[in-house]
Amino acid sequence: MEKIEIVSKNSGDTKKIGALLAPLLSPGDLLILRGPLGGGKTTFTQGLGEALEAERPIVSPTFTLAREVKIKFRGGVPGLLIHVDAWRLKARGGDIFEEFEALGLEDDFEGSNALVVAEWGDGIAEPLSDSILYVDFKRDLEKENWRSISLTPSGFKGLGDLEKTAEAAFGDFID
Ligand SMILES: Nc1ncnc2c1ncn2[C@@H]1O[C@H](COP(=O)(O)OP(=O)(O)OP(=O)(O)O)[C@@H](O)[C@H]1O
Ligand SMILES: [Mg+2]
Repeated sequence: MEKIEIVSKNSGDTKKIGALLAPLLSPGDLLILRGPLGGGKTTFTQGLGEALEAERPIVSPTFTLAREVKIKFRGGVPGLLIHVDAWRLKARGGDIFEEFEALGLEDDFEGSNALVVAEWGDGIAEPLSDSILYVDFKRDLEKENWRSISLTPSGFKGLGDLEKTAEAAFGDFID
């Protein structure tokens, strides 16, 4: 099994799926969220943020490139979620490290227990981490609230035996 496919039937499901991923994450991990406009990337990140006890609600970083929020990893380990929307950066062929530096995020990224969640991050955020989980969102134009959400690890250790983890963590959402 190389990827886990999960089905969401409404935005509440998508939040729950984000929340269920939270205990599997560690400092230094990078989530790269791919998929169309309105796919559910921010909704998913909101559920994830709640489960990580984010100090304030996650909002779309669309006009800022990145927002930071304090979180707690499993076991109460304090950390930081850096929520990136790489859409514009990607469009102009920018460099993620340079951008972090320009925004003053570099020290936080290196010094804190940071988790990066990058919407539209594929092809641009990968240099940030060796522990990457791709989260792919698909829509079906005939089913308004239906989304397929699949998880594909790339050097990501948090999922262990994918098949077992998938059953245990996301069982209710797997067909
Ligand atoms: N199953 C679902 N999961 C998530 N969102 C859903 C679902 N069904 C309907 N929606 C709606 O789709 C929209 C998803 O928006 P969201 O901002 O999360 O997408 P996004 O992928 O972050 O988009 P963008 O690329 O513009 O940042 C919301 O309006 C939400 O209510
Ligand atoms: Mg979004």
